[in-house]
Amino acid sequence: MRRKLAAGNWKMNGTSAELERLATLAQNHGAAKSEVLICPPATLLSRAADTVAGSAIAVGGQDCHAEVSGAHTGDVSAQMLKDAGAEFVIIGHSERREDHGESDEDVRNKARAALDAGLVAVICVGESLGEREAANTLDIIGGQLAGSIPDGVTGHTLVIAYEPIWAIGTGKVPTTDQIGEVHDFIRARLERRFGAGVGRSVRILYGGSVKPGNATEIFAVSNVDGALVGGASLKPEDFGPIIDALDASAD
Ligand code: PGA
Repeated sequence: MRRKLAAGNWKMNGTSAELERLATLAQNHGAAKSEVLICPPATLLSRAADTVAGSAIAVGGQDCHAEVSGAHTGDVSAQMLKDAGAEFVIIGHSERREDHGESDEDVRNKARAALDAGLVAVICVGESLGEREAANTLDIIGGQLAGSIPDGVTGHTLVIAYEPIWAIGTGKVPTTDQIGEVHDFIRARLERRFGAGVGRSVRILYGGSVKPGNATEIFAVSNVDGALVGGASLKPEDFGPIIDALDASAD
């Protein structure tokens, strides 16, 4: 059985004051049935790890460099994230792919570095609106999966997040049929490449405008093992009910 995962991506939001929200979340959902992950900005990682210590909530990074160390001003390595208390790292978010021109190869190299550092890599894939309208969604996702996932992953080291770019931060959500089609496709591709055992053990998250009001129906879709949540993860009063909905979907 794949354990459900509710992951929050704070993006470039949050200073010390927001740690209080994390403390509230840890208090109310620190013993959730689902695994809960918060990825704050790198500046807060170590204090976030301290804040959730003793609860079942994990913290993670939002990106890492492919190298262990060196002359890369402003970058953070996977080992540094691990040292700061991270257990996971998001890799290849569409905002990184777009804002920083990250290719599938870059994403694969970063994911390899994450695995080498002992982090779980949450690799993001997703189509643009133009690609969906041109009926290219599965081709795009297939290419991203093939190019972005390093060899040798397992269900313990890899999580996939399917995030249609047009659904991120827009309030637009694909239909449950559309989500199911892509998640089933990702599952089939994972099984084909890594074998049924590993392929079936990797968790596949949906991301893009997940809110308390739509979480239950999204979590009922086959091969949806949880969510990667942006905006709604910033407020415990929104993220809490999403975690509750995920817990309920596991019953
Ligand atoms: P959103 O972001 O929930 O604000 O749409 C999701 C994400 O980018 O991970």
